[in-house]
Amino acid sequence: MDTWIEDRPRAQQPTLVGVVGAGYVGLTSAAGLAALGHRVRVIEADPDRLAMLERGELPIVEPGLAELIDELRRAGRLDFTSAMSAVGGASVVLLCVGTPPRSDGDPDLRQLASAARDVASHATADLVVVVKSTVPPGTCDAIELICHGSAREDIAVRVASNPEFLRESRALWDFMHPDRVVVGAAERRVATLIRDLYPAEWPVLLTDRRSAELIKYAANTFLAIKISYANEIAALCEHLGADAGDVLEGTGLDPRVGPQFLKPGPGFGGSCLGKDLSGMIAVANRVGLEAQLPRAAQSVNGWARMRVVEKLEGVIGDLEGKHVAILGLAFKPGTDDIRDSPALDVIAIITERGARVTATDPLAAAVDASIERFDDPYDAVRGADAVAILTACPEFSGLDPHRLRSEMHGTAVIDAVGVIDVDAFEACGLDVAGIDRGTPCAFHPVILSPLRWTLSG
Ligand SMILES: NC(=O)c1ccc[n+]([C@@H]2O[C@H](COP(=O)([O-])OP(=O)(O)OC[C@H]3O[C@@H](n4cnc5c(N)ncnc54)[C@H](O)[C@@H]3O)[C@@H](O)[C@H]2O)c1
Repeated sequence: MDTWIEDRPRAQQPTLVGVVGAGYVGLTSAAGLAALGHRVRVIEADPDRLAMLERGELPIVEPGLAELIDELRRAGRLDFTSAMSAVGGASVVLLCVGTPPRSDGDPDLRQLASAARDVASHATADLVVVVKSTVPPGTCDAIELICHGSAREDIAVRVASNPEFLRESRALWDFMHPDRVVVGAAERRVATLIRDLYPAEWPVLLTDRRSAELIKYAANTFLAIKISYANEIAALCEHLGADAGDVLEGTGLDPRVGPQFLKPGPGFGGSCLGKDLSGMIAVANRVGLEAQLPRAAQSVNGWARMRVVEKLEGVIGDLEGKHVAILGLAFKPGTDDIRDSPALDVIAIITERGARVTATDPLAAAVDASIERFDDPYDAVRGADAVAILTACPEFSGLDPHRLRSEMHGTAVIDAVGVIDVDAFEACGLDVAGIDRGTPCAFHPVILSPLRWTLSG
């Protein structure tokens, strides 16, 4: 008897599930579904990724995932292969492949189409193909046509949407504790089959396919808008001599607003928000709408990254020949993911302006060889004119300001993510600039307008 499964929630209908793509979504979904009681076969096309998985190594960093996968493999519930024929006996196959943006911002759905074609052509019985990848509305309809063209004539392939909402760095937790499971299907029978993959007590929203696809785009677009809004408010605070941390905290305490994603910083990044925002804009444009809010969020995000560069130039002047140490390369703490990371954009701009860059990050995947990377943050800052903290890693909040000061050549620290104890750093002679604090002063020019309005009222 598998004791490990006893205290976990159980799927309503344990079955054989195929998962195509062993990335963040595929590996997490595969491990989660196997932990719920399914037998799961993962098909991965990248030989290096597959070799790592077969050796028992994880190609991504996600807390708890390596241990769970190891346990499930030993229990015979989960395996990895490159052979699409492995989907032969499955009644459900999840597509978890990448949908990166094309250079024009439209989503590139070629991985998805190719995986769907391959799955359908290997089906040996009626099959439900579930699109877990984030896709524009209408994709499931298109994928169903592709599957019909590829499957044997006696086999019916139905396509449904079941978008994934996990957050990197807490992917497994999110999968096992969903706010909602969204299922979009054209037939009740198909919707029921997908709902029954999950425990009965999980909150499920059943809808049509296009609505399910759009829920994911709409949710990510809203989060992106929220972050850009926080960055605009922070800039306003800086001009007004107000404290953005307090202003945003006070705003987010209203439950209609909520505190999450209401923090200023160098802008959003990662593989999803920017891509899905572009996808949303492309979809809206296609039907003659302007997508004004998504466009504004996109433009504010580019400006938020640029603001870090301007702050650096504000404190150390012309960047030509200056040494800048970047603390944090991943797009957020707790992950190795550097896709669309603000840090990489900032590095590209300041390098172009003549700065020498050294960098450190506790987890980030390999970066361009032109970036001098160090494991130890104190090695990265040695001799630097300025330090910019761009990822809110706990390792950086624990830095000793005395030691930092003694290793640096200059004194400028830009804390774009608000992780350090500003008073302690300033007490050591470091000049700290955040992006959430105005300069408090008794007579700020901002009161001139209210004064005029009061007196002339
Ligand atoms: N990463 C996230 O936080 C997240 C969260 C929710 C949704 N999503 C969405 O889920 C999808 C996957 O994202 P990801 O971050 O897991 O991507 P990823 O790039 O980490 O993984 C995709 C995997 O699919 C494999 N693959 C591609 N084509 C294949 C094929 N034909 N057969 C077998 N394997 C194939 C790739 O080699 C890769 O390992 C995207 O649409 C993304 O937008 C991602």
